[in-house]
Formats: sequence, structure tokens, C-alpha cells
Amino acid sequence: MPNDDFTWEDMIAINSFADDEFEVLAPVGEHLENQNLVRHARNKFADFDLAIQADNYPLPCTKDRESYYGDRHLAYWLSGYESLLFLEDAAKQYGVELGGVYDFGCASGRVLRHFAVQRPETKIFGSDINKRHIDWVNKYLPSNIVAFCNTSIPTLPMKDEAVDLVTAFSVFTHIEAFDMTWLMEIHRILRPGGLAWVTVHSDQTWLDFNENWPLHKGLCNHPKFPGLDKRQPMSTDKLIFRWHNNRSYTSNVFYRTEYIHNVWGRLFDVREIRRRYPIYQDAVILQKRA
Ligand SMILES: C[S@@+](CC[C@H](N)C(=O)[O-])C[C@H]1O[C@@H](n2cnc3c(N)ncnc32)[C@H](O)[C@@H]1O
Repeated sequence: MPNDDFTWEDMIAINSFADDEFEVLAPVGEHLENQNLVRHARNKFADFDLAIQADNYPLPCTKDRESYYGDRHLAYWLSGYESLLFLEDAAKQYGVELGGVYDFGCASGRVLRHFAVQRPETKIFGSDINKRHIDWVNKYLPSNIVAFCNTSIPTLPMKDEAVDLVTAFSVFTHIEAFDMTWLMEIHRILRPGGLAWVTVHSDQTWLDFNENWPLHKGLCNHPKFPGLDKRQPMSTDKLIFRWHNNRSYTSNVFYRTEYIHNVWGRLFDVREIRRRYPIYQDAVILQKRA
């Protein structure tokens, strides 16, 4: 590792020279102590027990999964499992066969692990600007995932028309510039007819969120945040709350729905914008024209 704490690589990525020492958690089967949640999951997901048994891979500890779900490890695992199922439903709805998937900003594989374990016949790619996440995936998740570190420059080292589905969960919520350039790359690597599932904070999210949403915690410390009671409907295409420093991934962004239709819609068919799906963010479903 270079002697300097901060290198040029860290201006376009995160933890470029991180060592790969991790504390990991036991596989999900050892986190079933919340009987109510287990009961609820058994009712909701027909294959819950089989899926749990199939996943013998460690879970990332909270800090290595962007703090998702705090110490509620089963809830973390379930959130990714549910994503697998609703992505498959959407693919079916739009007539897409999932031969290959790519998760942009995959972190330590919250969603990808389920494709890898439950649908091993799928070609699976994932990337993140945080090298530590990619090291985690490569060290602990199955080898049918090809994971790589991308940079904040919008380019992806993937072949044209490589996959049928691109997902970006809670990534465009932090991309304040070059959203269309990223979408051009996503468009390039999708097969004709393929889907992009991109979650956003929309103008509706801007008006909806309250002090109980995780989003509020960061925003309420931002000097430009007017306070929950003083919010006005968005009058610009994007509303950006950015912490100025020389790193990537330091902002929260809200996109106006009209902008998504008018601008993103020039490249893709905007099939749906599902409000608060499944919880906080809106899911934009884009389809590459055949
Ligand atoms: C809020 S987390 C969501 C992680 C994961 N998608 C999930 O749903 O569990 C945002 C992730 O996006 C990554 N990220 C932010 N900007 C990115 C970019 N330009 N390219 C790739 N990854 C990015 C972060 O490092 C982080 O892992």
C-alpha cells in the first residue's frame, strides 16, 4: 500500500488499498432467533426453509453492508431474498429471461448472493466503487459471481449486450452528476429488451419522508436542508445535498419524476415507477427498446 493515506485512486473509488481483514457473521441459518420474523417469512415465502438451507455462506457484519438493518441479520438476508423474487416477477411481467444479471453498486452482495446461491445457472456480475465490498464478495461469496471495482467515472468494463437485467439499488440516490452517462453504459451492456431496475429518491420521496426514515438522519445535518416542515415541492430536475470533499459518494439526490420521463425516457422505455417499493425508495423500471 502507498505511504500516503489518500491516493489518486481514492478520488475515483473508495478504499482502493484497503486490506481485506474482515470479521464475518455465521450463515443466515444461525440467525433465526426472531421467531416472529421467521413465522412471517415462512408465510410470505413458499421456499423460505429451502432457501435458508441452501445459503451456507457467511453474512457481512453490519459495517460491511452499509449498516443495512443494524443487528437484524435475518432481516438483512430477507431483504435481498425478497429482491430476487420481485426482480424475477418483473422480468416475467416484461417477458425477459434472466440469463445474466449485473448489480451496479452491489456492496457486499445483499442481492447478488441470492442469485448466486438460489439461481446458480445465471451469469452474475457486480461492481462497486468501494473496493472493500468487492474484496468481501470475492472472499466469501460463491465463485459464480464476477465482481469488480468500478470508479466514479461512468464507464464499465463489460461487453455490449452482456446481461438481461441491471439493478442499482440505492446508487442513483447518490449520483448527482453523469446520471445519463451511467445510463448510457447500462443501456450498452443490456441485451435488447433487457431491464434496468434503478431505485431513486423522487420528488414524491422528497415530500413523503419523515424523521423515521433512514434518509432523514443524514439530511437533517445538511446546512441546505430546510427542515421537514418547510419542504416545498421540487422546482428543479434534481435536488442535491452534497457534502463537499474530494471523495465520491457524498451526496443525497432527489430526481423529479418528470425528468425521469423526459430525459431517461429518451434512452429507455420508462415502464413503471413503483412508489416506495419495497419500502422507502421508488423503483424505476426501464426497458431497452428491442
Ligand atoms: C446505499 S449503498 C447500497 C448497496 C447495495 N446496492 C444494497 O442495496 O445493499 C450504495 C452503494 O453504492 C456504492 N456506490 C456509490 N456510488 C457508486 C458509483 N458511482 N459506482 C458504483 N458504486 C457506487 C457505494 O459504495 C455503496 O456500496
